[in-house]
Amino acid sequence: MSEKLKRIAVLTSGGDAPGMNAAIRAVVRASKYFGLEVFGINRGYHGLMFGDLKKLNTGDVANIIHRGGTILKTARSEEFKTKEGRTQAANMLKEHEIEGLIVIGGNGTYTGAMYLCEEHDIKVIGLPGTIDNDIYGTDFTIGFDTAINTAIEAVDRIRDTADSHNRLFFIEVMGRHSGYIALHTGIGSGASEIFIPEEDNSIEEFVEVLKKSSRRNKLFNLAIVAEGNQNGDANQIAAKVKSLYDKVDTRTAVIGHLQRGGSPTANDRILASRLGYQAVEALSNNKFNCALGIVDKNISYTPFNDAITIKKNLEQELIKMAEILSL
Ligand code: F6P
Repeated sequence: MSEKLKRIAVLTSGGDAPGMNAAIRAVVRASKYFGLEVFGINRGYHGLMFGDLKKLNTGDVANIIHRGGTILKTARSEEFKTKEGRTQAANMLKEHEIEGLIVIGGNGTYTGAMYLCEEHDIKVIGLPGTIDNDIYGTDFTIGFDTAINTAIEAVDRIRDTADSHNRLFFIEVMGRHSGYIALHTGIGSGASEIFIPEEDNSIEEFVEVLKKSSRRNKLFNLAIVAEGNQNGDANQIAAKVKSLYDKVDTRTAVIGHLQRGGSPTANDRILASRLGYQAVEALSNNKFNCALGIVDKNISYTPFNDAITIKKNLEQELIKMAEILSL
């Protein structure tokens, strides 16, 4: 039987996501309960390589559950992508006698975690922290719920001015490789069209929809554009639509990083707390080299390799439903 761990660490990496602080808090408080010492690593894998870490106690994570961003800061480290970088990071963990690591982030974070496990035998558990919701092995990622609520609130404000001026607005949301944010924002704000990377949206067909809607006196429209969609950014799509149908008065808005900040919603706080707690429990039971998630209300453990390589598909019925409801 393998020996019980004594000392673990936690880091956040990649794009920050609301709820990361709630997860850090849960990791620290659960560690106390399971009798583990816990260290916080600043600036993700970059900080790990350079030994930028400190011991965390219960008081260090007081009053952070409601805060967006991450108290541990984050980074996208190019050096850690090299073998040498990872060896430096693993040596740093060994030097500090840290036997287990909890990483909170997205796909890139998990890739680094898998290499640390495989190349250096470090016991790593991953928690899905990204607003994109594009991680296989969990229904929702930490930060997604807050991001779509923020985006819908922004769209509601734009709706007022779009309606007053009878305009067609193209509103760009985040999601380089995934249409989750756009699809859910689009459904929640009753958009006429949702441009997502997973679909080959036809601008010509959208123009026909606009013409029909103007005949039945629907004079303002909202279109949600995922940044990674196949037709270009919001400005490019707006220009193309205008060139095909010059009667419409178009405007664009890019929500951008606004949707990555702010106080996490109740759903994100609860998800993050649950996952943070379970991550410590998993490590203390010598479970590692996997990502945690919640699927159908139950905790799920997905090997890093699957979490990284299996594409989490958007629900086709939601795409179809969004289209039907928009007509
Ligand atoms: O992965 C999260 C994310 O917010 C994506 O939706 C977006 O494309 C990207 O990060 C932006 O990254 P950065 O803040 O580094 O520009």
